[in-house]
Amino acid sequence: MIKFPEHFMWGAATSAPQSEGYSLSYGKSPSTWDKWFEMQPDKFNSDQGPDTASDTYRLYREDVENMQKIGLNSFRTSIAWTRLMPDGKHVNQVAVDFYRDYFKRLRDADITPIINLFHFDMPWWLMEKGGWETRESVDAFAFYAKTAFELFGDLVDRWTTFNEPIVHIECGYLTGYHYPDIVDFKKAVQVGYHTLMAHTAAIAEFRKVKPDGQIGIILNITPAYAKSDAPEDLMAKQNADLLLAKSFLDPTVLGVIPEELINLLTKHELLPMTKKGDRQLIADHCVDFIGVNYYQPMRVQAPENPKFPAQTPEDLYANYIWPERKINPYRGWEIYPEALYDVAMMMKNDYHNIPWYVSENGMGVADEERFMGEDGQIQDDYRIEFMQEHLTQLHRAIEAGSSCFGYHTWTFNDCWSWLDGYRNRYGFYCVDLDHEVKRTMKKSGRWYRELSENNGF
Ligand code: BG6
Repeated sequence: MIKFPEHFMWGAATSAPQSEGYSLSYGKSPSTWDKWFEMQPDKFNSDQGPDTASDTYRLYREDVENMQKIGLNSFRTSIAWTRLMPDGKHVNQVAVDFYRDYFKRLRDADITPIINLFHFDMPWWLMEKGGWETRESVDAFAFYAKTAFELFGDLVDRWTTFNEPIVHIECGYLTGYHYPDIVDFKKAVQVGYHTLMAHTAAIAEFRKVKPDGQIGIILNITPAYAKSDAPEDLMAKQNADLLLAKSFLDPTVLGVIPEELINLLTKHELLPMTKKGDRQLIADHCVDFIGVNYYQPMRVQAPENPKFPAQTPEDLYANYIWPERKINPYRGWEIYPEALYDVAMMMKNDYHNIPWYVSENGMGVADEERFMGEDGQIQDDYRIEFMQEHLTQLHRAIEAGSSCFGYHTWTFNDCWSWLDGYRNRYGFYCVDLDHEVKRTMKKSGRWYRELSENNGF
């Protein structure tokens, strides 16, 4: 039997925009997702916009009871900035009441809430001013963060600033999966820099408002694996690691922006505008812990005909398909649990063994109804196997001394996911959109309860 350390956190994660629904009701103002859906609904799978979430805003009481049924002792969600502060200045009391009751119920059920501040949901009023492209966004975010810490700090001890900051940068400014859907490497870097400074400013507020609390950031981290030992492939790996992992890991954990990253950005004329004193602020505001979202590895090779200076990241590293890869046939992503061990050891060896947890890991499945058993329950043995394989690697790393304190899956209820709507399902509970978003536990929910009760499997 594989046993995990005492007090290990067993949980699941979701986000406000993907679970709450009522995206323009109860005083909430639009985020970029609401506006984008209004402008270009056909971009969204099956016309499913942000309002088609899993109705947690209405059903959170039942959801907390369901969390208990599958043995969760911790849970992450986010606050919707646009619900809490619709104009960025004033607090929406209806939202305060909702979040306070939600967080209190979690605590009363012995489920530790981990609350995140930003999960890709940029307020429209701020986007109209340039969003993360402008320095103003840093102050706006710091004010929102401070307000949230003051309003909910008595109920929430563990906070995170951003979920996967690389994603809103890459998808919004390079690959077209997020608004504003443009390709501009220089702007992408500037957006990244302001996101980092917004994170730093939020930590500064946190230390004042809640000195006894813990704050971190959620990063999607995968060490890049090079196609070969050829210097060009290794250079591609180094570039990918610098841009996608170290760009946030080093400043948030070690308090420094890596010199190699600065050199790379300088060489390609991509350096962002900064302010005097920023470096010191970064150095003075490191995180207490890290959340690592891990789904699939990253495999890279040297780009074939790179432009100089680089116009997109593909001029610095190219993706490569490993012929021996095992694939999740229902989502198309590679399954490689060994990378979780590598990340865990990277935390130990390169990041002074900072406390960290797996903040997302999971198996997405399209058209999951096909696995419905006669008893009406989804028989998701593939998901149980996926978790077992990843937990085995995680356990190996913990035995080797990595300071991992928990494992959260993506996700608790099946939920809406950006342009893909409900295409890929990940939950422990199936959500029936045709029957009043009724929740039905999948086989994996029962397995997770046993896992948490036995603290292992
Ligand atoms: C993570 C995000 O990257 O992956 C979630 O934090 C997202 O918001 C999850 O839903 C799964 O990805 P997808 O695209 O299959 O929903």
